[in-house]
Amino acid sequence: MIIISLVCSQYKNKVREMVENRAVNRNTYDQVMLPIYAPASFIPVRGQGSRVWDQQGNEYIDFAGGIAVLALGHCHPALVDVLKQQGEKLWHVSNIFTNEPALILAQKLIDATFAQKVFFANSGAEANEAAFKLARRHAITRHHTNKTKIIAFHQAFHGRTFFTVSVGGQQKYADGFGPKPADIIHVPFNDLNAVREVMDEHTCAVVLEPIQGEGGVTPATLEFLRGVRELCDHYQALLIFDEVQSGMGRTGKLYAYQHYGVQPDILTTAKALGGGFPISAMLTTEAIATAMEIGAHGTTYGGNPLACSVGCAALDIINTAEVLTGVEKRHDMIIQALEKMNQKYHIFDEVRGKGLLIGAVLKAEYQGKAGDILQQAAEQGVMLLSAGGGILRFTPSLIIPEDDIAEGMTRLDKAIARWLSE
Ligand SMILES: Cc1ncc(COP(=O)(O)O)c(C=O)c1O
Repeated sequence: MIIISLVCSQYKNKVREMVENRAVNRNTYDQVMLPIYAPASFIPVRGQGSRVWDQQGNEYIDFAGGIAVLALGHCHPALVDVLKQQGEKLWHVSNIFTNEPALILAQKLIDATFAQKVFFANSGAEANEAAFKLARRHAITRHHTNKTKIIAFHQAFHGRTFFTVSVGGQQKYADGFGPKPADIIHVPFNDLNAVREVMDEHTCAVVLEPIQGEGGVTPATLEFLRGVRELCDHYQALLIFDEVQSGMGRTGKLYAYQHYGVQPDILTTAKALGGGFPISAMLTTEAIATAMEIGAHGTTYGGNPLACSVGCAALDIINTAEVLTGVEKRHDMIIQALEKMNQKYHIFDEVRGKGLLIGAVLKAEYQGKAGDILQQAAEQGVMLLSAGGGILRFTPSLIIPEDDIAEGMTRLDKAIARWLSE
């Protein structure tokens, strides 16, 4: 015991020394990390609510929310508390054993949705990977062996594993890695006729985001979702909703499908499910779940007690009238501020989205410039996202204080004014 606490305190001192000496900086990133991202020039070191501070003590208002992950902001006290408590109790047992937080979270997700069965994983991509495998297996075991076609959509994003990136509709992410998984077809989003043309008895699933996030913050139309549901029923194909970004209260309902009244057969959820702690889930019905059997799929960490206990706390807080109706109010505030900005600067063609998944589409002359605006915004103290080069994307905390929205918008206004003048 004495040795352990000695080692712990030595380690803590070493980490503190590194942090205090700022022994790592943005240049370190280029030296030690795989060159797949180009992170901002500053390094955040602390966050509270919707405010973040960097290594130099500069403060930012966070409209990015960790890409729709921090539904309850940074370091929400209830999540911190539950993580500390679980951290002193049980971290991991593997799926050779089950655990209480996983069972409780699964039951909560079932109670709140169409689902009767849950599979836990660690990221959106893994939940989607499981969904696509389940859809193929369901079709092969219940129907016929060549019922394997997956219909997906241009601009869709489903993750970066090879299967999910191949189902995603952005070639730039999928090309350059050799032969792709076969029998995946892409058609334009919101185009029911295009789906009808490629749909047949070989189709095992249609996969879509009810609101395309990465692809441009594009909500599905009601007619489109209803039509796709009918086609799936007709051809005995499964309808998969990827709600990794649109789920967990982001649109003002727990899941976006609940706005449309169109029910999927499989739904994937991640990001805000853990409020910043990595966890994802695939939800489905009892009947479809029986296509799987013991050993058919798995993951070491999926459903671990730490992630699930945080997930339980996040779900309990998010799935309340107070938080969900607050999303609408905050949506209106952001839209009004963006419209006001647009009256001054005329840089947006359209502001779209649902709840707190909002995209401001830059006019043709500013296409490709979103990254420059993001950089200018950071210089003025606002963290913001883009969707491609032509859309500014807002995915803040669902409980971002109204004062922070107002202050963040004032800073963004300044950033745009400065950017235009330069
Ligand atoms: C709709 C959607 N699906 C899947 C993913 C992949 O999630 P992850 O990065 O956690 O694998 C994302 C991530 O942005 C997403 O927006």
